[in-house]
Amino acid sequence: MGSFSPYSRQCIDDDDISAVAQALRGDIITGGCLVSQFEADFAARIGAKYAVAVANGTAALHIAYMAAGLVKGDSIITTPLTFAATANAAIYCGAKPLFADINSTGNIEPSDICRVAKENSNNNIAIIAPVHFGGQPSDLERISEIASECKAMVIEDACHALGALYKGSLIGACKYSAMTVFSFHPVKHITTGEGGMVTTNDPHLYERLKLLRSHGIKAGESWQRDMVLLGYNYRLPDINCALGISQLKKLDWFLERRRHIAALYDELLKGNECLQPLVVSSDVFHSYHLYPVLLRAGTDRDNVLKTAFRAGIGLQVHYSLVYNHSYYRENYPQNPLPIAEDYAERIVSLPIYPQLTDEGVKGIVSTLSA
Ligand SMILES: Cc1ncc(COP(=O)(O)O)c(C=O)c1O
Repeated sequence: MGSFSPYSRQCIDDDDISAVAQALRGDIITGGCLVSQFEADFAARIGAKYAVAVANGTAALHIAYMAAGLVKGDSIITTPLTFAATANAAIYCGAKPLFADINSTGNIEPSDICRVAKENSNNNIAIIAPVHFGGQPSDLERISEIASECKAMVIEDACHALGALYKGSLIGACKYSAMTVFSFHPVKHITTGEGGMVTTNDPHLYERLKLLRSHGIKAGESWQRDMVLLGYNYRLPDINCALGISQLKKLDWFLERRRHIAALYDELLKGNECLQPLVVSSDVFHSYHLYPVLLRAGTDRDNVLKTAFRAGIGLQVHYSLVYNHSYYRENYPQNPLPIAEDYAERIVSLPIYPQLTDEGVKGIVSTLSA
């Protein structure tokens, strides 16, 4: 196969490089008009009223939870099959993360959210945070109904799901949620180096998000400053936003490539008993940040990963369950969730990124099936 295929990687071209070079030649390299342009372009692309750019997806989760009013004594319900940041950001706010099991799509199972909510009715469940695992939207309609019953806010962790649709509506348009969070880490659909975004349609949340991103300081004239709440420096510089603006123009092509590769994997893996793709719901447009498969029960996954690595295939594990990390075991012990436990033991992500060729995909499948 020749070169090494990581599970994902950035796709940068000369236009991106020129856009960043031009930003660097500008007078203002942070807090300038490229930030507002990136936000406006992003909001327009996904059909949200407002977008707030921040330093990374974790910062986006943190200010979204804070804007929602999450405080000590509250809880959030999320999936354990996610990057730790989804739950960590709740702990930053002093809140307790609770975990519900997943279903065959890899996403949080709505009926298990109900169970967790019922069993924790003495905790104030302030937020339900579905993660659109791998780029496949969660069952947002059902989740938003449950959230209204619990008087909780839905905040979507869409760090995997830029460009995805749920029942015809774009993820990030916040049809079923108060806010949606994105990441622009290099492995994601578009990159700004590091970066993140929160979208919302609520003007009050929008104002809070802007304050929280920049020290809680309200700006009047350039010399007038009043800090009205405790915020952070989570700003995303113009240099990074220039890259984001340029990358966003290619989102449709990135999605097309990722979906083409996924369709090819689907076809090549039909009837393959060793590598089983996750179930995809019929009412979503999957944006394939990841292409996860389940290994046959009893397979030595470490051995599969090591052998693939030696053959130039960078498989990855998404994820070790959040509650199984040492920090969580010590501080937030949780009874095992059966489906999540099973998936976490058997799951691997196959390479998927725009530059991966059909030949590359075929080589990966035949190497892994050998
Ligand atoms: C589901 C999920 N949530 C949150 C994050 C955090 O994003 P970032 O790395 O930009 O801070 C990631 C990043 O990998 C993620 O995959």
